[in-house]
Amino acid sequence: MLDKLFVRWIIRKLQKENCFQVSDARIDERIKRFYKSDSLSTWRVWGDERRVKLGEHTQVNNALFNTVSGSITVGDYTFFGHNVSLLTGTHNYHLKNMRRQSCVPNSGLDIYIGKGVWLASNVTVVAPCSIGDNAVVAANSVISGDVRANALYAGTPAKYIKDIYFEE
Ligand SMILES: CC(C)(COP(=O)(O)OP(=O)(O)OC[C@H]1O[C@@H](n2cnc3c(N)ncnc32)[C@H](O)[C@@H]1OP(=O)(O)O)[C@@H](O)C(=O)NCCC(=O)NCCS
Repeated sequence: MLDKLFVRWIIRKLQKENCFQVSDARIDERIKRFYKSDSLSTWRVWGDERRVKLGEHTQVNNALFNTVSGSITVGDYTFFGHNVSLLTGTHNYHLKNMRRQSCVPNSGLDIYIGKGVWLASNVTVVAPCSIGDNAVVAANSVISGDVRANALYAGTPAKYIKDIYFEE
């Protein structure tokens, strides 16, 4: 992402060269607005970005995809609230100090999210995990394990709450 100061510097330079005339206050306001919305709508990857597969018409906002120990698949029409974390990475906590820090599996812990799923705000998904089509996970829940299709889950750890009925 471009640094805020760098963006401001370019704009001021263009202004000096008479490319356009806008007040400094207006530029500052626009930059502030852009960076504010960007921080809520830009997803981030910790690990290999090629391990993230997003389907068609997905909305993931500012989700964190940790792909250190596996891949993450998100199905068509699935959407997230804000601050959703999908964590494949883990550490061997039977070790200590430097070895605990650095002993991380490279693969084997995948997250699969089906089609039309809603992960509400602040949900954390811990791999390995599979979430069935059209499932809903309530705000602030922590999922570790599988979630049935067409069902609502909530809590920490998230538990099955009910089946979802669908309106035509
Ligand atoms: C899941 C949700 C939509 C409510 O659905 P609902 O069908 O109206 O569910 P209810 O409120 O009837 O709750 C059903 C049960 O789940 C529990 N529950 C609901 N949301 C919960 C949550 N976030 N954490 C823990 N338990 C929850 C309720 O306490 C209730 O338990 P009970 O049957 O023991 O009383 C709502 O709780 C939610 O999480 N909304 C997400 C909001 C959000 O993140 N918005 C951002 C936009 S994406």
